[in-house]
Amino acid sequence: MNQAALVIVKPDGMTRGLLSSVLDKFAQTKLDIIGMKSIIATEELAREHYNHLKDKDFFNELIDYLTGKLHQNKNMIAVIYYGEDAIAKCRGVAGATHPEKADPWSIRGAFGRVRTDGLFENVVHVSSDDDEAEREIKLWFSPEEVSVSVYPTDTRAATERTVWV
Ligand code: TYD
Repeated sequence: MNQAALVIVKPDGMTRGLLSSVLDKFAQTKLDIIGMKSIIATEELAREHYNHLKDKDFFNELIDYLTGKLHQNKNMIAVIYYGEDAIAKCRGVAGATHPEKADPWSIRGAFGRVRTDGLFENVVHVSSDDDEAEREIKLWFSPEEVSVSVYPTDTRAATERTVWV
């Protein structure tokens, strides 16, 4: 079954110059890239993205991490991979959540670390299942930024938006 998976290279990966190594590892999955962009997580978007962890004691540090407060680079690269079993393939390449428990050949195993305050700086985010992928892709991308129509869309009159002057 074809699936979409959201991958985000988080601020530690960007600051440490790991973007090309990380993308190389995902390329080995042979999945298609159907959307890709640089994003900066506002406090609001970060809280929405990690809403399922809001009661954890590391939540505030996690929000600081995603919004770039812990690293020099605030921007992140978000990529939508698409194809057969995309989520399992991307999560396999990423490795286990805890960097010390991750396969050493995986991204998190090779490049992740545990901070002294206990937070996992694990370089990448990968959607955990279909529902999460849909929720996250709709949070970070607009339909016209995605080259395959993975979810239903509707056309509305343009609303006010910020433009370059
Ligand atoms: P989670 O969604 O549980 O894992 P995954 O990213 O593998 O889907 O956690 C989100 C992030 O929160 C995780 O990538 C790193 C951080 N985290 C910690 O710092 N400590 C923890 O004990 C857990 C579970 C997560």
